[in-house]
Amino acid sequence: MGNPSTSRFWGLTFHVQTFGCQMNKHDSERVAGMLEALGAQSVATIEEADIVVFMTCCVREAADVRLMGQVASMKNIPLRGESPLSKRIVAIGGCIGQRDGEKLLVQLPHVDVVFGTNNLASLPGLIDAVLDGKERIAETLEESDGFPTDLPTVREQSWAAWLPITIGCNNFCTYCIVPYVRGREKSRPFDEIVAEAQRYVASGVKEITLLGQNVNSYGRDLYGEPRFAEILHAVADTGIERLRFATSHPKDLTDAVIEAFGTVDNIMPALHLPAQHGSDRILKAMHRSYTSKHYLELVSKLRDACPGIALSTDIIVGFPGETEEDFQCTYNLVKEVGYSQVFTFIYSKREGTPAAKIEDNTPREVIQERFDRLRTVVEQGAYDFNQVQAGKTVPVLFEGFSKKDGNVVTGRSPENITVHAPLPGGWSADGVIGSTLPVKIDEARTWYLRGTLMAGESARGN
Ligand code: SAH
Ligand code: SF4
Ligand code: F3S
Repeated sequence: MGNPSTSRFWGLTFHVQTFGCQMNKHDSERVAGMLEALGAQSVATIEEADIVVFMTCCVREAADVRLMGQVASMKNIPLRGESPLSKRIVAIGGCIGQRDGEKLLVQLPHVDVVFGTNNLASLPGLIDAVLDGKERIAETLEESDGFPTDLPTVREQSWAAWLPITIGCNNFCTYCIVPYVRGREKSRPFDEIVAEAQRYVASGVKEITLLGQNVNSYGRDLYGEPRFAEILHAVADTGIERLRFATSHPKDLTDAVIEAFGTVDNIMPALHLPAQHGSDRILKAMHRSYTSKHYLELVSKLRDACPGIALSTDIIVGFPGETEEDFQCTYNLVKEVGYSQVFTFIYSKREGTPAAKIEDNTPREVIQERFDRLRTVVEQGAYDFNQVQAGKTVPVLFEGFSKKDGNVVTGRSPENITVHAPLPGGWSADGVIGSTLPVKIDEARTWYLRGTLMAGESARGN
């Protein structure tokens, strides 16, 4: 496919709808970047868009079903009156695009373009071909054609950047489809990552999040051994105000990384460390390669290195064959750790994964009841974690206005907890959003903190 002609995209509008994890969010920023570079204009809704791109997720069945529903219902949304096109162009990418390829053209008759996770860069060319009169196209690749990071980008927020350090996954947890739709793990060269971080710092970015399905194994494919601790220090040395990373597989979390939480000021005191389960029997069946004892040792080392660190996790309830006793182990683990946040998922069977072949007789109601029981301990843990913040003054990086109240600004504490604060009279929102300012915490709820913005000269009105 040749290079798409810029002129053809002039005057066209596009909307990217994203599902799933940060990898997709980051890929969507690249999709927007490529289309804008060709002259198309981003719009906030499907109604206004001549081109709609769905970046899809298939990690659980619910995500699949929701997408199919959304795409199907799009048929009824008329094209904007001023559109130069006679018909809206609909493209599906991301993980369902990668998994289903051409089949999607059969299932969804009004979809024009299907692309996958490995050929993001082809999207403009595919759209161009459709504009050129080619009927409908599906193109996916088995192997990645390069890091999407080399493509232009439009970042969702100017002060925060996702920085992928690896793509793909080699872990093959038995329930998980990600390695099949994202391919084998590939690391980006060390110097490229540092250079990108330096560019972000120079352009005023305040927070970088290093991304990978398992950042801890960064570098194994390039250098023969993981070099995550080194890249973490090197990115921290660029002087970025806040540095975070996700996700960490407990089997690969090293002492050097744990120590960095205590010794490097700009590494934020928050870690997402997915446990998935508390029963060693189930952890083994999940192919997670650690025990609950090892996991709890990591937690205790993290708390020694960085007292007050916020730990969050992912938990799956109802893995095939999970007994009440197994579930109790999960319940106890969650209670013992005291997470600031837990993402809880009911096991979802994914065709093609090894766990899909395990027989499962546990009734749905039993799993739902376990899930509900777990939620109560999750909420208690989050509530208790936040109480410790009450009365403290914490630095908050402000992101925007509260969805519920236009006079309240919202940001995050170093522990990654949402903080709301009323904008004091006479303060300019422009001076607050994108800045880090002290907030005295007056109230601690389960999922957020509320406080008072303290005097900060930079935030005063002009
Ligand atoms: N690489 C990351 C996250 C991958 S997907 C990690 O290893 O932590 C995000 C989360 O979705 C997983 O942590 C897991 O808890 C959940 N998940 C993945 N496959 C699932 C399935 N088949 N059913 C239910 N939850 C699943
Ligand atoms: Fe899926 Fe496991 Fe890889 Fe995470 S580490 S993406 S859960 S296979
Ligand atoms: Fe979903 Fe793909 Fe991410 S399946 S969780 S969008 S890697």
